[in-house]
Amino acid sequence: MKKNVLITGGAGFIGSHVVRLFVRKYPEYRIVNLDKLTYAGNLENLKDIEQEPNYSFVRADIVDKASMMDLFHQFRFDGVIHLAAESHVDRSISSPDEFIYTNIIGSVNLLNAARELWKDDHSGKKFYQISTDEVYGSLGDSGFFYETTAYDPRSPYSASKAGADHLVRAFYHTYNLPIVISNCSNNYGPYQFPEKLIPLVIHNIRYNKPIPVYGKGENIRDWLYVEDHAHAIDLVFHKGLDGNTYNIGGKNEWKNIDLIRLLCRILDEKLHRESGTSEKLITFVKDRAGHDLRYAIDASKINKELGWEPTTLFEEELRKTVEWYLTNEAWMQRVTSGDYLKYYEEMYGNRE
Ligand code: NAD
Ligand code: DAU
Repeated sequence: MKKNVLITGGAGFIGSHVVRLFVRKYPEYRIVNLDKLTYAGNLENLKDIEQEPNYSFVRADIVDKASMMDLFHQFRFDGVIHLAAESHVDRSISSPDEFIYTNIIGSVNLLNAARELWKDDHSGKKFYQISTDEVYGSLGDSGFFYETTAYDPRSPYSASKAGADHLVRAFYHTYNLPIVISNCSNNYGPYQFPEKLIPLVIHNIRYNKPIPVYGKGENIRDWLYVEDHAHAIDLVFHKGLDGNTYNIGGKNEWKNIDLIRLLCRILDEKLHRESGTSEKLITFVKDRAGHDLRYAIDASKINKELGWEPTTLFEEELRKTVEWYLTNEAWMQRVTSGDYLKYYEEMYGNRE
């Protein structure tokens, strides 16, 4: 094996796409997927590659410092791609603690384990922190987030990711740990847990449930297809310069309400419903506390320096994504039972 690569959070949405890409593209690497399998982690997302000889799965909690140290000594990782996180803003608003443990303490445990393992030789090593555009805060009607934009996180989720990013950079400056960070915009595609906007809207339309639109639906997000993100991660992992940050985005801004109306039209077609049927499900509900107005990424650095750009067309890929959720109804049923139902009731049951 040429490299031992640890991917944390590989059973989640983006992580499963990254694991699949690496297992298939790099048969000479040993890919270890470490995941706690929280409500958001699902090994079903990796059924198609789980038998590959260069893949192994370890169930572990990154908050457990001793087991992180043991794992690093056992597998002698050359690279770490760190995606494991509590990732949903609404959950961070109702209970922030888990975000602090996993996103900050968990990240420090991995940093310490890498520092210990690589203390005598950094060559060929890389600690890659997968971060988010949300650490930059909220934009007004114009402007973009650049790699140089000062951090201004405004939710417990984004504050916990920002805290981790600061620590990753501190380990670079203080201990010369070879790190790299990327900050990406909103992802969409198959295997996304349906607490997030796009799969939630698809699910609700399918089952004729109200579509909860926070506030007036005027908030803007910059959407990127998850496989485009996975390809960017591949490039940054292999070619990103130590100590550098790379912004990743789709140059694809949508007001929530416009995106939801587009999904309504696509689903009317796909479900053979009369045009306008799904829009009737739109329900304006109480706004998210501290709801960031707009995110928009300037991705020119990764484009110029590493040659990355999104390869997919948004409306085409969104249609395929809708098709995937409709076809994979059994997956959706399984992830929307149990804990999800309880969460959904708590989250939306008492909304206006
Ligand atoms: P997700 O919630 O779908 O998956 C997170 C994974 O982490 C799950 O498999 C979960 O079981 C695992 N996990 C959680 N706590 C853990 C712990 N303590 N120990 C080990 N594993 C644990 O998240 P996602 O949307 O795939 O996001 C992945 C990463 O990308 C996160 O770091 C997130 O901040 C970042 N990100 C996400 C987006 C997006 O649009 N979804 C955009 C930019 C950046
Ligand atoms: O920008 C990157 C971030 O994108 C990631 O770091 C996060 O992990 C990921 O969850 C996502 O955060 P958002 O808060 O932008 O995504 P979410 O899908 O929760 O919401 C998208 C927008 O839709 C946001 O403005 C809130 C709104 N929304 C969301 C839900 C779930 C609604 O109007 N109704 C809803 O029911």
